[in-house]
Amino acid sequence: MSADSKRIIIFDTTLRDGEQSPGVSLNIKEKVMIARALAKLGVDAIEAGFPVSSPGDFEGVSAVAGEIGGVTVCGLARCVEKDITRAWEALKRAEKPRIHVFLATSKIHRQFKLRKAEEEIIRLAVEGVKLARSLCRDVEFSPEDASRTEPQFLAEVVEAVIAAGASTVNIPDTVGYAMPAEFGRLIAHLVANVPNIGKAAISVHCHNDLGLATANSLAAVAAGARQVECTINGIGERAGNAALEEVVMGLATRADFFGRIRTGINSRSIFQISRLVSSLTGMPVQRNKSIVGENAFAHSSGIHQDGVLKERSTYEIIRPQDVGVAESQLILDKHSGRHALKVRVAKLGYELSAEELDALFARFKELADKKREVYDADLEALLEDRVGAAPSIFQLEHLSVTAGTSVVPTATIRLRRDKEVLQDAACGDGPVDAVYKAMERLTGTSGKLLDYQLRAVTRGTEAMGEVMLAVQFGTVTVNGRGVSTDIIEASGRAYLEAINRSLARGAGKGGTAGGGKSKRK
Ligand code: KIV
Ligand code: ZN
Repeated sequence: MSADSKRIIIFDTTLRDGEQSPGVSLNIKEKVMIARALAKLGVDAIEAGFPVSSPGDFEGVSAVAGEIGGVTVCGLARCVEKDITRAWEALKRAEKPRIHVFLATSKIHRQFKLRKAEEEIIRLAVEGVKLARSLCRDVEFSPEDASRTEPQFLAEVVEAVIAAGASTVNIPDTVGYAMPAEFGRLIAHLVANVPNIGKAAISVHCHNDLGLATANSLAAVAAGARQVECTINGIGERAGNAALEEVVMGLATRADFFGRIRTGINSRSIFQISRLVSSLTGMPVQRNKSIVGENAFAHSSGIHQDGVLKERSTYEIIRPQDVGVAESQLILDKHSGRHALKVRVAKLGYELSAEELDALFARFKELADKKREVYDADLEALLEDRVGAAPSIFQLEHLSVTAGTSVVPTATIRLRRDKEVLQDAACGDGPVDAVYKAMERLTGTSGKLLDYQLRAVTRGTEAMGEVMLAVQFGTVTVNGRGVSTDIIEASGRAYLEAINRSLARGAGKGGTAGGGKSKRK
């Protein structure tokens, strides 16, 4: 491989094949915005549309051609005179214009779609390339459905279109049918059997119907292809095209495997353009999408988190910053371990003793079982609520309530005081009132609820509720705070904290329990 052949041309077709995704339609302003971002990303060529297909496509190609300099701007055309002249009309203002002509070559397409014999296909392909070449110096030809074309006939077509003036020959796996080893062999076959192959660059254009678009593109590069056609986020017809971010990061990450092949892509802009394309096309990026998915740099299991904290490369093959992601995320959820919790707690500015961390970890796991993800705000709520924040003379072991439209609200509470376990039940005006009555009976206290406030700590219906209250026990007024995904439990924890505080301060009895009733929820 010569030094130059180590540079892979990235041909982006987000605005053409990508825009063919069902349900996607970009206006001219949006197309120009994406084209600008693609140029900034460092792609070599932008396929901006299929000018003959609609006035909007024509205007889009024309606008990109007129406004985006420094990169090749390409328009698609069938091997038909009106397509080719229309493509040229749209492209002629471009600094570096390219006409991309295509014609199907596989037996299935020849017989059923085109109803043309092999010789006729070659004749039309050559005429199309010649006409395009008479208008534009840079012409690309695609034998559509190349991967299902007889390899010998494909080689004949490729040789003929190169002789007619095509400087790029693109080999599409139009229906995403090829297997990587097989597709690599097809490229190698063309390299070995097309006598004038050195006069053109071999390109590949792979669809993702079997989830192999990136694998096939990379296999083709290993076999000698020099241009890869791809789209941002892999959008495109049906299951989409090879994703630019995957191809580029595959080549960069495995430079050892590909023999130091490089692209001109500034990979740090990848994440930003991924989100731009997603928002303008209305096609969300799947969470587990390689490189640009929300989970691509997020670690959830305790073992992985511990590994990443010790050495990032244990579970990360790409530095998130290299694709424009600020940092890896250690998601705190039910799979998480103590190490990740400890690190996050320290980041939040808390210093915990080993016992405090143990206690927090136990409550964190309880919470994580109820919630999909534990956010920093949840943790802060737990931290402020942590063991040691208030004296824990009585500890809550069990709380259950029966409540509804036609039942008397009843609470069953079990508390622990050292080794002693106490249990009681009480009825109340509402479930919270029932909980407070049962707690007062068990602790021998009697309080007057002065203030009760409930708020959601984080978003969503599974968010943690935080209850803050003030209770008067005799002459002493104390505060209490409790958090839980269950607001009755949060209310109970807050009240028990207030009871414990009052007992620690020698109060507890003598409040006006009855008087507090109406203020309880
Ligand atoms: O998938 C395909 O074959 C195409 C061609 C027009 C290149 O998009
Ligand atoms: Zn395609």
